[in-house]
Amino acid sequence: MKISTAILSITSLSPAHSWTAPAIPRFTSRTKVSTTGFTQLHSAPPSSSTKYADPSRYLSDHPNNNVPPHIAALVGKGLHTRPNHPIGIIRAKIQEYFSSLPHQDFTIYDAEDPIVTTTQCFDDLRIPPDHPGRSPSDTYYITDTTLLRTHTSAHQSEHLRSGADAFLCAGDVYRRDEIDASHYPAFHQLEGVRLFPVEEMKGAEGKEGQEWLESEECKVIAEDLKATLEGLMDHLFGETEKRWNEDYFPFTSPSYELEIKYQGEWLEVLGCGVVHEEVLQTSDRADRRGWAFGLGLERLAMILFEIPDIRLFWTEDQRFHSQFASGEIVKFESYSKYPPVYKDIAFWIPEGFVENDFFELARGIAGDIVEKMELIDEFTNPKKGKTSKCYRITYRSMDRSLTNEEIDALQMQVREKVAEDLGVEVR
Ligand code: DAH
Repeated sequence: MKISTAILSITSLSPAHSWTAPAIPRFTSRTKVSTTGFTQLHSAPPSSSTKYADPSRYLSDHPNNNVPPHIAALVGKGLHTRPNHPIGIIRAKIQEYFSSLPHQDFTIYDAEDPIVTTTQCFDDLRIPPDHPGRSPSDTYYITDTTLLRTHTSAHQSEHLRSGADAFLCAGDVYRRDEIDASHYPAFHQLEGVRLFPVEEMKGAEGKEGQEWLESEECKVIAEDLKATLEGLMDHLFGETEKRWNEDYFPFTSPSYELEIKYQGEWLEVLGCGVVHEEVLQTSDRADRRGWAFGLGLERLAMILFEIPDIRLFWTEDQRFHSQFASGEIVKFESYSKYPPVYKDIAFWIPEGFVENDFFELARGIAGDIVEKMELIDEFTNPKKGKTSKCYRITYRSMDRSLTNEEIDALQMQVREKVAEDLGVEVR
């Protein structure tokens, strides 16, 4: 399990869980890659994703529904399809790179329904039933079998099944998570898959397990994967030092993570691997072999544009948007720094207390002015057998000064609601 709070040390920006712990039919737009990356995509969210901007799609009265209204309101914004938004600019740059590769045309998918089934998101990818990533404390469920996708890998099997041999797939993904400058419950990923021509994989026929892993063909795929992604990093960052680490994902074998050296620091930028043969079998593509990768767009955008806070991607403030234009990577100039207001809250927790429920409750009340929530003290009273936790909430607006009175009022609501909804005893 990888948990990190530092801006520059996480893969997909926001993975409270990653898929690494071994313990642990819808509308689609298809466009061919163009050199600009936006063949059929124009300014503002295209109609294909606007149709997802209906919060009632995500708020059901199913007992398993745990999507709060403030999360439902984020869906369908289509940041990844906006040519002048940092997330859209990075996405276009990645598409531009793939369109320059000689061997294959990559089909672009960017408007799949963010509601997927547990089969798509987990089972088809060999993510086991007890994996923490499936837990309602980490994932937003609409019903017991439908959810807001937690990664773009959820679309791999449907595209493979439809016959796609090489594709990129970008979209908004959702994870219940901690709150700080680099963690937001909604973010964007881009997935890439390439299957190799049958002629090049003749020697792989019938090989499974260890025999496949040791085969020449498996090595060819892994090498092509690494060379392709190294080229992508050079395209985005200029020539950079890189290193590969072995990793684990249930849907690839072997699996790797790529790190790049940026301003003297090693940064993890993506996960990838050779597509697991069972994933191909599930997608009725057992005759083929190939690679896949997934990366977080906020993470890359925060590094490349020097954007210090992940909430900025969602702001409507023109002082943010006026700084960016299609095809340009520029340093973000902070337009203001308003002072933070800190408030602490301490309570005795009941059994089964889920931290993410508390984080979400505060965001539900105060919205994006919650900049950070951190545990600053914890102790157990041995006599009572009870545990107390104290959290510090940092309130700060990106766009204006906050008054003490308004924050006191919000904090009071948090105190009341946390007792009411989560059964804690506020101290
Ligand atoms: N889905 C993974 C995540 O969200 C990222 C990933 C890793 C995607 C490896 C892939 C892959 O396609 O092969 O953490």
